[in-house]
Amino acid sequence: MIVHGGAGGRAAPADRSERRRGLLAAATRGGEILRAGGAAIDAVIAAVTVLEDHPFFNAGYGSLLTTEGWVEMDAAVMTAERRGRSRTAYPEIRAGGVILISRVRNPIRLARAVMDLTPHLLMAGAGAERIARRAGIELCRPNELISPHARARWLANRAAPDARAASPSETKAAGGGDKHGTVGAVARDRHRNLAAATSTGGVPGKLPGRIGDSAIIGAGLFASARGAASATGAGEAILRAGLCRGAVEACGRGTPHAAAERAIRMLDGAEAGVILIDAKGRIGFAHSAQAMEIATFDPFVGTRHLTPAAMTAIAE
Ligand code: GLY
Repeated sequence: MIVHGGAGGRAAPADRSERRRGLLAAATRGGEILRAGGAAIDAVIAAVTVLEDHPFFNAGYGSLLTTEGWVEMDAAVMTAERRGRSRTAYPEIRAGGVILISRVRNPIRLARAVMDLTPHLLMAGAGAERIARRAGIELCRPNELISPHARARWLANRAAPDARAASPSETKAAGGGDKHGTVGAVARDRHRNLAAATSTGGVPGKLPGRIGDSAIIGAGLFASARGAASATGAGEAILRAGLCRGAVEACGRGTPHAAAERAIRMLDGAEAGVILIDAKGRIGFAHSAQAMEIATFDPFVGTRHLTPAAMTAIAE
């Protein structure tokens, strides 16, 4: 399994250890599920839930705010599960996503409820909230999702709108001015089922009603018999390129790492990152931002945190 905490600028020094702890906790939570024989879908949702609950990541509590000062989150899950025991059995593909969510602390859990409880792929607004009630997911007041950091950043951006406009990539809501964003996870379980999950508060300076890539199948996440991917970064560019579908399809033509790098090159310099796992359980990742931190879980080596420098060394 791989987990990412967003691509963007390097985290402020004061925030690095806390972010590292958050990513490791997410990978550990998902890893425990996989180690116990649990499903990839459960592992990615558990990992993303940890990051949604952590105020230093731009998802769930701590999401950055719209220009009007409210949280509007997007999240989705996708899974490719094997039917039958044959190595060639075609997988069952399932997905669910939610957009513009303002009253649920863990939109990734609501995305799963859409997948499990409805015939639909993507839901928003009052209809999505009704699904939350059916799934036993508690609704909160919109202001309960606004962290002190996100509010401080919003106030700073309002005071200096030019600085915000000059920074079109997604920005970390917490931790001052550093840029880190969307969270996601991909995993393969012992039955060779694959799953991807992505959750975000969006990009800085977004208008109310703006929808990014994170909940859009093929862009912010994708899963098929070949692999599973989750993206982070400038949503408009990721949507135009269909980043995650491109990365997963390229898995058939080389290592996941090469596939991730090729997919990122397709973005023509837009700031983004992608994590990838293939049907053999091999992982890959690439980004075009200043930094992207990830944590991995492997049943043989356990949980590891990869800093930007370590990622560069591995890639080389
Ligand atoms: N990648 C997150 C967004 O654009 O909303």
